[in-house]
Formats: sequence, C-alpha cells, structure tokens
Amino acid sequence: MANMKTMAPVITIDGPSGSGKGTISRQVARNLGFHLLDSGALYRLMGLYILQLAHDPQQPTDDELEQLARDMPVEFRAGKAGDVDILLDNQVVNDRLRTEQIGEMASRLAAMPAVRRGLLQRQRDFCRLPGLVADGRDMGTVVFPDAILKIYLDASQEARAERRRKQLIEKGENVSIAILLQDLRRRDQRDRNRKHAPLMPADDAVNIDSTELDIDQVVTIVMDIATERLSMRA
Ligand code: C5P
Repeated sequence: MANMKTMAPVITIDGPSGSGKGTISRQVARNLGFHLLDSGALYRLMGLYILQLAHDPQQPTDDELEQLARDMPVEFRAGKAGDVDILLDNQVVNDRLRTEQIGEMASRLAAMPAVRRGLLQRQRDFCRLPGLVADGRDMGTVVFPDAILKIYLDASQEARAERRRKQLIEKGENVSIAILLQDLRRRDQRDRNRKHAPLMPADDAVNIDSTELDIDQVVTIVMDIATERLSMRA
C-alpha cells in the first residue's frame, strides 16, 4: 500500500451551480500552491466535442461514448495572470464552454454512466504532488473518496440566482431573476435526482452554507480547516 504521506493530498469542493465553488476552489488552490481540477469543464468539453462531431449521423453507442470521453483531445494549459486555457483539439475554447447550450448538454451527458466512466480516470490523473483541489458534484463521493477534506458548499436558490444575475450584468447581459431561478431549479433537479453520482454531500463532508457569506469569508473557513488537516499528515 502507498504511504499516505507520499500521496498527493486532495481537497474536494462539491455543490450546486452558483454556490461559488469554482471561485473558492481557485483561491484555495492558489493559496496552497495546489493543482486545480474544474471537473464541470470536462463535462462541458464533452458537450462541445459531441457537437463538433455532429457530422457523424450515427448516435454513439455506450461503448463509443465512453471511448470518446476517454480519448477526447483536451489540454489544460497555464494561461495569462494565473488563468487556465482550456484546449479542445488544440483550440482555446474557454468562452465557448460557458454558453447555456453547452451547459445544458453537459448536464444531460453527465447523467449518462458511460460518459462518467470515460471521464473517471482523466479526473483522477489530475491528482499530483503537491496536492489537488477538485471542484464538481461528485468529487468527494465518487472520484476522490479518500480526500483529506471534503467540502459541500451550498446557498439558497435565491442567493445563487442573484449571483448569476450579477455575473451576467458584468458581461452586459440582463436576464430576469425569475428566468434564472427557473434554470437553476431545473439544473438542481437533474443533478440531485440522477441515478448515477447524484449531487449530494459525502458522509464525511463539512457543510458550508454561503448564503450570508462572501467569497473571502468562505475561503478563510476552508483554508482554516485545510491547514489543520494538512498539518495532521505532516
Ligand atoms: O460546474 P459546471 O456548471 O461547469 O458543470 C456542468 C455540468 O456538468 C453540471 O450541470 C453537472 O450536471 C455536470 N457535472 C457533473 N459532475 C461533476 C461536474 C459537473 O455531473 N463532477
């Protein structure tokens, strides 16, 4: 058995859309000097990849889907100012991944066990020294069950919809809160009720409700627990 201390420690941050897990994960990874896995990006990449292959008139079988997920030509490359460029087939696709169409495809593909199987090892391959912060829906429950710290980050639907509205306003888009709430409820419903790897806290997760907290407050809470857990391994 591998020595615990020589294995890269993993911190998982799971939660629903708009809980702030992406921003929190980035900051915690930066503070600790750890690698970062944005697992949602892999499901979105799969959506974009399938769209690009749409010239193939045949619906892929489960085996083909699993193989596509395993082999899709993806690269995460350090970009400007600490950002990460995401490449599909050697093209930077960051902006294309963030559209509603791709989000919707990602969420449908994520309900397919063949896709989840195909992406499993790719996600585990991100685990390298000195450590990894992994964000998603099933990081603590399925992908990294031995993580040293599992955070489940949630917030009220209203707070999450309001955060999304602010992000869109910054991009020059104005969408009503009612529509955003409706989208959020649909996504939550699908993520929480799917049969395979549904969104739920791991039994040993630390639950944080960020409804009344700002980003810095959540980062401080996570960093305090992470520092304590890491010192216990030292
Ligand atoms: O986090 P993000 O919104 O980018 O994820 C896109 C979709 O991928 C989610 O709606 C969710 O259904 C799916 N997903 C998942 N498991 C993960 C990460 C994302 O099912 N670990």
